Amino acid sequence: MANERSQGTAAKGDAAGGPVRYERRGAVAVVTLDSPPVNALGAAVRRGVAEGIGRAITDPRITAIVLTGAGRCFSGGADIREFGQPPVSPTLRDIIDMAEQSPKLTVAAVHGAAYGGGLELPLGCHYRVGAPSAEMTLPEIKLGIIPGAGGTQRLPRLIGAVRALAIILSGEPVGAEEAVKLGILDAVADGGLVEAAVAFAEARVADGSPLRKTSERKALPPPDGFFADQRKSIARRSRGLIAPGHCIDAVEGAITLPFADGMKKERELFVACRDSPQSKAQRHVFFAEREAAKIPDVPRDTPVLPIDTAAVIGCGTMGGGIAMNFANAGIPVTVLENKSDALEKGLGVIARNYAATVAKGRLGEADMEARMKLIRGTMDFGDIADADIVIEAVFEDLDVKRKVFGRLDRVCKAETILATNTSTLDVDQIARATNRPEKVIGTHFFSPANVMRLMENVRGAKTSPETIATVMKLSKAIGKVGVLVGICDGFVGNRMYHQYTRQANFLLEEGALPQQVDKAIYDFGFAMGPFAVGDVAGLDVGWRIRQRRAATRPKDERYSPIADRICEIGRFGQKTGAGWYRYEKGDRTPIPDPAIKALIEKVSQELGIERREIGDDEIRERCLYALVNEGAKILDEGLALRAGDIDVIWIYGYGFPAHKGGPMFHADQIGLGRVYDTLGRLAEVHGDMLRPAPLLESLARQGKAFKDQ
Ligand SMILES: NC(=O)c1ccc[n+]([C@@H]2O[C@H](COP(=O)([O-])OP(=O)(O)OC[C@H]3O[C@@H](n4cnc5c(N)ncnc54)[C@H](O)[C@@H]3O)[C@@H](O)[C@H]2O)c1
Repeated sequence: MANERSQGTAAKGDAAGGPVRYERRGAVAVVTLDSPPVNALGAAVRRGVAEGIGRAITDPRITAIVLTGAGRCFSGGADIREFGQPPVSPTLRDIIDMAEQSPKLTVAAVHGAAYGGGLELPLGCHYRVGAPSAEMTLPEIKLGIIPGAGGTQRLPRLIGAVRALAIILSGEPVGAEEAVKLGILDAVADGGLVEAAVAFAEARVADGSPLRKTSERKALPPPDGFFADQRKSIARRSRGLIAPGHCIDAVEGAITLPFADGMKKERELFVACRDSPQSKAQRHVFFAEREAAKIPDVPRDTPVLPIDTAAVIGCGTMGGGIAMNFANAGIPVTVLENKSDALEKGLGVIARNYAATVAKGRLGEADMEARMKLIRGTMDFGDIADADIVIEAVFEDLDVKRKVFGRLDRVCKAETILATNTSTLDVDQIARATNRPEKVIGTHFFSPANVMRLMENVRGAKTSPETIATVMKLSKAIGKVGVLVGICDGFVGNRMYHQYTRQANFLLEEGALPQQVDKAIYDFGFAMGPFAVGDVAGLDVGWRIRQRRAATRPKDERYSPIADRICEIGRFGQKTGAGWYRYEKGDRTPIPDPAIKALIEKVSQELGIERREIGDDEIRERCLYALVNEGAKILDEGLALRAGDIDVIWIYGYGFPAHKGGPMFHADQIGLGRVYDTLGRLAEVHGDMLRPAPLLESLARQGKAFKDQ
């Protein structure tokens, strides 16, 4: 087959460097999407595909058409930058229809990602052949929309409503092997994909196989009550989100309606999602996450060091979780503890964590063993000398950390990056304990470290571009979202969180109760309010930090003693069965506690504050605008590169509802003028802590948004 390549002729667009190539291989036309990086299906690509299919149809020598992608994948899907623009012909639906209605057999040859429109196009082809690398899904739900080019109608017709909906609701990719089992792919190519697809097409033509039109199939209906059950489960899992319910409605249409009507319904539901503030917010997060990887003074071609082995110092709450991230990514990791019982305990926790995942059916037994084998415990620094990166997660104590770093500097090879997971300490002071400050960086993970996706990568004064580039790349490699931040107390996330919880505590003094504050924040879209979160995380951690800082706290600063009082009576949260709430044995449901109400009322009385009725709007404004205001200060100080970076931090590290786009995006949506006015009004009552930040003021006065920064 390959030697017939010479017969290939370039399509018009090809010679001009167009994004779609056309080539004839014997009686088969090969139409190749060639628009790096991911062959997004923008207007020019769609035009090229339409021309390619049209040309093949009119060429009498051609009997079949193979559609494929150049470079690393078939297609990453629609060009979402076109969203909200007037539609340009041919649309995605048009070219998919062309592929399906083609009088000549069409075969999609899929490798790498075939996402969204990049899967809907193959679904419209008569047959599909995949490379082992193929990864297929309809990930639209992650952008707050539903598939809009027939995905909700063709996928159920191909693999049944139950499986199709599972893919559409998760947005997670299906590999080649599974795609064959499901019936998405007809075959997997062993060798060259295009050669195999051409041979496949020739064989189908030769044996007179029909031109299978997915739209003409009947979808396998789901069991009775399936859609109702799905709606119930979505109401719990995706509270407040529009897209999941619309996905269910659309897939139901594939069962109950003729294809054309189902397509009409899909379109209506798609448009409703696309035009919703939720989807706008989720698209913002999508771009912000990608943007966060870009650092102006660390260009893309900055050399990165290979990270083939890692070490973690300390196998406590954080160290164990951090080590799991490496093992999950297939990177061998050595965990060092200074006491054998702590090591044993830490490794035991890791093993139990994996076992729990296996028990839930989310990890195979063999995978668990493979991961556990990648984690090695030691008490000997000599064992970590060759690690490419060491992440320190010992006690939060500067002297302890500096000692550890001095020792690491002496023991580790010159190339080793030394990272600290400190949440409050100055990375530069830690770096000064070494002779390689350019290789020292903060990697601030969030608890539980094997679950939470955020990594605040903290740049020290001397951290080199190579170290930054390497750690940002590593974040991605271990499944995290890395955001580069500068050094300040609490870095970006915790510094903002502090302002948020401060307001929450003051609201208690002024008349609210924990359950009321938590409910207002929950209703906004957070999974939990600040007091419920405190009970999960443990109230003693913050208490110790406050005790340490008591001496240096400005005397005129408003300070709420309630949290300290709660710790003083031994209520540290869920781990002690009581904190801001009380808990029944073995149950994590927070139960409002009259004892806490009494304690709070007593504090109000002591402080001479007359308790008043506090509305949910005030709770949300005080807590959330305090966040935004601190975010503005952080931006002004250059400690976060962009407002979008702060949004990413809050979504992946603190559970800010993604469909609200993060605190800064949310403020932009409200309008900075309004946020500024509200804060100004609040500052009149509550003083400087809510005084609008200078950046907020200047943007508001210019009628600008944080995104214009
Ligand atoms: N817990 C959190 O939610 C959280 C979140 C982000 C960052 N952090 C930071 O992560 C670090 C660790 O916190 P944690 O909650 O895992 O603490 P932890 O107390 O659970 O674990 C610390 C571990 O370090 C070990 N250790 C202490 N000194 C050591 C030394 N010299 N050599 C080797 N091992 C040593 C201890 O035995 C212990 O097992 C701290 O800097 C903390 O501020 C914690």
